[in-house]
Amino acid sequence: MMKTKFPGSIRCRCSLLQVGFLTLLTSAVLLLYYVKLIEVSKIWSEMDRIMKKTTFTTETAALNGYLGASGLQWTPSALPGKPCQPETTYLVAYPCKYHYILNELERCQNEKPFLVLMVPVTPNNREARDAVRTTWGSEKMVMDKVVSLFFLLGQPGHEGREEMQQKILQESEEHHDIIQSDFLDSYKNLTIKTMVIMEWLATYCQNATYAMKIDSDMFLNVNSLINMLLQAPRKNFITGLVAIGAAVSRDPSSKWYLPKDVFPADFYPPYALGLGYVISLDLPNKLIEGAKHVKAVYIEDVFLGLCMWYLRIPLTNQTDQSLFNYFTVPYNRCRYSKLIATTTHSLQDQVNFWKELKKPGPHCQP
Ligand SMILES: *[C@@H]1O[C@H](CO)[C@@H](O)[C@H](O)[C@H]1NC(C)=O
Ligand SMILES: *[C@@H]1O[C@H](CO)[C@@H](O)[C@H](O)[C@H]1NC(C)=O
Ligand SMILES: *[C@@H]1O[C@H](CO)[C@@H](O)[C@H](O)[C@H]1NC(C)=O
Repeated sequence: MMKTKFPGSIRCRCSLLQVGFLTLLTSAVLLLYYVKLIEVSKIWSEMDRIMKKTTFTTETAALNGYLGASGLQWTPSALPGKPCQPETTYLVAYPCKYHYILNELERCQNEKPFLVLMVPVTPNNREARDAVRTTWGSEKMVMDKVVSLFFLLGQPGHEGREEMQQKILQESEEHHDIIQSDFLDSYKNLTIKTMVIMEWLATYCQNATYAMKIDSDMFLNVNSLINMLLQAPRKNFITGLVAIGAAVSRDPSSKWYLPKDVFPADFYPPYALGLGYVISLDLPNKLIEGAKHVKAVYIEDVFLGLCMWYLRIPLTNQTDQSLFNYFTVPYNRCRYSKLIATTTHSLQDQVNFWKELKKPGPHCQP
């Protein structure tokens, strides 16, 4: 800031020291403001991605355009060879023939579940699996409906693979709830995991009525879930926290960045947030079919949304917005007895809240 910038009418002829101090102070304030602004805009853009509501219909043309000839659709001739080698790091190797390393061939046939809980989890995260097994995953019969639980794992990374595999094998023999496929387990490969879940459901559990894909660090109220499902359609049904008109992130530092040349449209079609969504069991086969026509972006929930868009099947948004929660709901016995799913701050919370909720006595004050 220059001395000359001060108008002549200023009372004092400011000394160099005064101006220096003022400059410093102003810069500090500006810097603080700027930092805060970045922070706020980060949070804002995340919220934007999650829930931004736009007049979605205006985007329809753009989306159809990219799912059409030029955009994200596979040209059929490209299908046989190409898919197992994605062209960019923003796409994954799917469709592709993966093989099961561990499987539970007959559990669905024997148990005849109404609802299957499919939990994607990394191979080394035994702690999360045990938390689920001792909490909501332990509920096998809820309101007269059979519930089955499975974990979906990819392959551990090369380092220490044998040792890790040995442990998983033991765990599998102990619990019989692990499905493992031979793709490399990584964050960027979650879309593959989701599609392997669909393939597995379509092959080994097609007689179930519903499946829920739910992350291992979530709190789930199976009772509320079944309650909702008892009144839900049994075909073409997918629900959860449905994002409508979410903006595509063009910020390269974002966890969900997609460059324009990979994904030209500026908005996603509606999709159910990956933390937990429920589908009717006719959908896995349809989604697998749809996936053959849509390039597999690495953001798994978005990819399912794209397949749903391709299939022209609308998503079901819950009228009660408190059922599925992206922001962790502070524990409250009454509220937790009604919600279906919420994120948690820790596995310990997940376990404690579940135990507390299961204690006898009324959930809500009269
Ligand atoms: C599904 O039900 C049909 C008819 O009841 C039966 O033949 C088939 O084995 C069942 N499939 C599975 C995977 O349980
Ligand atoms: C995804 O899995 C495939 C198949 O195992 C593997 O070739 C690829 O390197 C993995 N990608 C990432 C980013 O981990
Ligand atoms: C879902 O439906 C509810 C109630 O009908 C509405 O308030 C909410 O905005 C909808 N959510 C989205 C993402 O459109």
